[in-house]
Amino acid sequence: MKSAQPLIIGNWKMNPLLASDAENLLQTLLKTTKIKSVVPAVLIAPPAVFFSTLKSKAEKAGVRLVAQDMSAEVMGAHTGQVSAKQIISVGASAVIVGHSERRQAGMTNTEVNGVVLMALKERLMPIVCVGEQSRDAGGDFYGFIEVQLKTALAGVLKSKLSEVVIAYEPVWAIGTGKTATPDDVLEIKLYIQKVLITLYDRTVVPKVRIVYGGSVNAKNAEELLEKAEVDGFLVGGASLLPKEFSTIITIADQYAKK
Ligand code: PGA
Repeated sequence: MKSAQPLIIGNWKMNPLLASDAENLLQTLLKTTKIKSVVPAVLIAPPAVFFSTLKSKAEKAGVRLVAQDMSAEVMGAHTGQVSAKQIISVGASAVIVGHSERRQAGMTNTEVNGVVLMALKERLMPIVCVGEQSRDAGGDFYGFIEVQLKTALAGVLKSKLSEVVIAYEPVWAIGTGKTATPDDVLEIKLYIQKVLITLYDRTVVPKVRIVYGGSVNAKNAEELLEKAEVDGFLVGGASLLPKEFSTIITIADQYAKK
């Protein structure tokens, strides 16, 4: 089923270098696109240190701020971490959880679960990343994704699922220019829905939004929306190019209005 409001989420990762550059990047995006007049929800995930600089401009323009990660703890002796309440206080309304670059740095499935539960408790929308490192002919990667998903959602009540976004991000497609084909993405989307049915029941399928991430750009966005019917994108590299990101938003807008 086609999403009524696709989510276009730009993950800036550890970019750009300076707060003034971050301001310019947002400013250029806003000049290129009238965010409030498009159907998709537009979200950006800059480094948390830039939130205060971007907050008022983003809010006025209707762009939501997303944290790239956060702690599962409330506050205290957790050097180097930020908490849910802290990121909310500087404007975040969502958080990316378990991005593969965090997992590569040691984040476990259980830790992902802790952050998901904390996000939901604090009314932040968790964007939970799952995805295989590589594909094997035997299809073991399905099991890998299933474990990621089941652990991430442990203890999540059915009533909270409409606040959860699942981002299917195959690691081999991230930053590599190798996008998964629409067929690959559709297959995994259906698989994720199957796992959700076993964890909950059939009624949850339309509630949980499933987006795709991994070398999304202005050239492949339309086909991915049309054929894989994803609920939007988590965009890395292309989100740092305002014109390209803006084109992706326009493509999603036209798709939603069809
Ligand atoms: P990419 O990154 O679009 O540069 O592949 C996606 C992501 O890491 O979320």
